[in-house]
Amino acid sequence: MVDGDGGAGQKEGRRRRGNFAEVMMGRAKVGGCSNSREEIEEDEVGQRERTCRERSERETERETEREARGRKAKPVAVKVAALSGSLRKRSYHRGLIRAAIQLCEESIKDMQIEYIEIEQLPMLNTDLEGHGTFPPAVEAFRQKIKEADCVLFASPEYNFSLAAPLKNAIDWGSRPPNAWADKAAAIISTGGNGGGERAQYHLRQVGVFLDLHFINKPLFCLNAFEPPAKFDKDGNLINAEAKEKLKKVLLALHSFTLRLRGGKL
Ligand SMILES: Cc1cc2nc3c(=O)[nH]c(=O)nc-3n(C[C@H](O)[C@H](O)[C@H](O)COP(=O)(O)O)c2cc1C
Repeated sequence: MVDGDGGAGQKEGRRRRGNFAEVMMGRAKVGGCSNSREEIEEDEVGQRERTCRERSERETERETEREARGRKAKPVAVKVAALSGSLRKRSYHRGLIRAAIQLCEESIKDMQIEYIEIEQLPMLNTDLEGHGTFPPAVEAFRQKIKEADCVLFASPEYNFSLAAPLKNAIDWGSRPPNAWADKAAAIISTGGNGGGERAQYHLRQVGVFLDLHFINKPLFCLNAFEPPAKFDKDGNLINAEAKEKLKKVLLALHSFTLRLRGGKL
């Protein structure tokens, strides 16, 4: 007749006695002396606690590894360097870049635009270069461009061409090693009748030699001076239709950048 737990209690008793004997023998061999039952039971408890602790440490390690793998698997944001050819405080082109940054924050989560100031750059003069070194402001600017995956140029049209401050920045970036090489790019402009289209065309020509790759469509040439108003008095873009078009430009730049990099950043 077996007891109420199907003999499990007896089995457990035998197992414990067996363990007790094994531990006794082990200790006698190692220590050369025999220990009391209480000491051995304390040892058993200690051993169980150690095993438990080790198991939980291993689990924590595995969890950390899983988290690290998860982080790596997340999509990396496309980094955009945005430059304005106008240095004016209430510039419409600065306003276009602010609108682009806001659009990204609101609705293009895997794209990050950083506005890169160009005002601090000296006028290009190769006497300012050392052997492969540049004035600190130029070094910092070039580094920002190198770190970006693509470029957003906002250039006004000055006398049928791109703005001189922007050309100056482009020329500094082009000094060897060319910081622009193999980057995707887009141009946005606003101005009189053509919305800056001639400046855009000239900038495309410059980009050929720099190995920049411009998106072709959509064109963003916004007429700033005919109603309805496109900008407020501080140069903020307030026109919904223009914002929608700007978003399309950003999406095209995003997908072209990834395409150029074979889907990887
Ligand atoms: C020196 C100069 C030349 C300009 N030439 C042109 C031009 O050729 N075509 C045009 O559409 N607008 C021309 N404009 C007007 C600018 O495109 C317009 O003022 C634009 O808003 C400037 O950009 P911003 O608001 O970002 O400063 C010119 C402005 C300046 C100051």
